[in-house]
Amino acid sequence: LREHEEFTKVKNIATIELGRYEIETWYFSPFPPEYNDCTKLFFCEFCLNFMKRKEQLQRHMRKCDLKHPPGDEIYRNGTLSMFELLKALCASLKALRLFKTEVDGKKNKVYGQNLCYLAKLFLDHKTLYYDVDLFLFYVLCECDDRGCHMVGYFSKEKHSEESYNLACILTLPPYQRKGYGKFLIAFSYELSKKEGKVGTPERPLSDLGLLSYRGYWTRVLLDILKNIRATSLLSDMTAIKAEDILSTLQSLELIQYRKGQHVICADPKVLDRHLKAAGVVVLMLMSVN
Ligand code: ACO
Ligand code: ZN
Repeated sequence: LREHEEFTKVKNIATIELGRYEIETWYFSPFPPEYNDCTKLFFCEFCLNFMKRKEQLQRHMRKCDLKHPPGDEIYRNGTLSMFELLKALCASLKALRLFKTEVDGKKNKVYGQNLCYLAKLFLDHKTLYYDVDLFLFYVLCECDDRGCHMVGYFSKEKHSEESYNLACILTLPPYQRKGYGKFLIAFSYELSKKEGKVGTPERPLSDLGLLSYRGYWTRVLLDILKNIRATSLLSDMTAIKAEDILSTLQSLELIQYRKGQHVICADPKVLDRHLKAAGVVVLMLMSVN
């Protein structure tokens, strides 16, 4: 608990400069001690290295050769691109603390660490207590002729025993409320579909996280419910032609006609009564299966 208080109470960095934006921060982030005397940090928007002074950043920008996040571009649609960073050993502050002293030439890892420092400025307690593990980072960018500008990202455990398909999600404040959060969430579920797995975001969710997930879940489910024609669904499941399903359900008085539409009324008690009466057939059916 003390550690938690220490982390959440004292906001150290008040603003950051990133690309064209000056952004006010939301929470504490454990930048290395040499940054203790700063209230503003200057980030290179491409490699995410951070500096104390504007002149340092300007000097850096002249020699920084990155124009997009390190990693593979795995998705592109118009000016939107998604980059996947593999084996960036860090999604947690614990990891950050353990690894920041390690010498490692890998660009990906340094980028992953920088991203965590940056993200923590907008995430509360979320990232604090994870064990070190292998994480994937998915960085979403708006691209133009100057390069690919990060708008947000999510991280994901490579192997999650709890079926988490997302660890942390962030849309940078200047880009919030434009649908990027929805896009990142949808992307995380598309990855799960490709893996043939179900997934869920790591808990706890922030208020904004919950809001975004509720919205996403609601839309996806309602969309399906709206488009489901019950008889065609039953038909797909049973291979019985839809007309035969309709006439059968009608004869069982399980169909009502409301507002110009056939509606299935599957009251469990009524279903139970019918099932008992049709018990023999059901048994036969099961043996055929
Ligand atoms: N106030 C009210 N509603 C909001 C706000 C807000 N400030 N921001 C977003 N929303 C709503 C949107 O209206 C939208 O609702 P809808 O689905 O009903 O249309 C929904 O949230 C998603 O909006 P998007 O524009 O798609 O999401 P955005 O790009 O703003 O990103 C996110 C959402 C990632 C949660 C962002 O707010 C953020 O980065 N917050 C800070 C970090 C954070 O809290 N991350 C989640 C932690 S939990 C976890 O990581 C597992
Ligand atoms: Zn750079």
